Amino acid sequence: NKLTITAICGSLREGSFNRKVLKAMEELAPKHWEIHRADLSNIPLYNADIESQGDPQSVALFKESIRQADGVLIVTPEYNSGIPGVLKNALDWVSRPVKSSVLIQKPFAIAGATPGSGGTAQSQAQVRQTLLAMNAYTMPGPKILIGGIHEKLNETTGELDDESTLRHIEKFLTAFEQWIYFFK
Ligand code: FNR
Repeated sequence: NKLTITAICGSLREGSFNRKVLKAMEELAPKHWEIHRADLSNIPLYNADIESQGDPQSVALFKESIRQADGVLIVTPEYNSGIPGVLKNALDWVSRPVKSSVLIQKPFAIAGATPGSGGTAQSQAQVRQTLLAMNAYTMPGPKILIGGIHEKLNETTGELDDESTLRHIEKFLTAFEQWIYFFK
């Protein structure tokens, strides 16, 4: 059976390491997964005055993508030991209306990469807490905490090609599929 997955990258930059991880996930995902990348780049800063006039198109598209998804995959950097503002802002938009938000009971999985050694653990912990507040169902594990990401890329293509990381991603994706079916 086909699974529809929305993928969110918490970094907007073109050469993002986290987007490279997301790309590897797309390539390793089972063939019956259909992954749609969300575009956060045009989502404005949350403002209830804007919201009261109706969601901006970028927000409406993001909400609809999550509404249609069987699961949502977040791959995010860590900024100053926490969640990047871009990602928190986008999640704040889709958390509303509170009682009927598309995040409620939606299966999520979180991953992240950094050139540093902490593997984005603190950022992921904050994303988890945010999603808990929004009544989403975040997979407890396995976790993907990639440190030293700049040393795990192919020198020619720039793509993630560290064998043990790729095998771990496969396990993570398999576990996420089980997590999604747990709630179906
Ligand atoms: C960072 N970076 C970073 N890394 C980390 O492991 N822990 C941290 O707390 C921070 N803090 C931080 C703050 C700010 C404002 C920036 C811009 C960066 C470094 C970060 O991991 C690095 O820039 C990554 O390359 C960002 O992810 P993408 O864009 O490559 O996906």
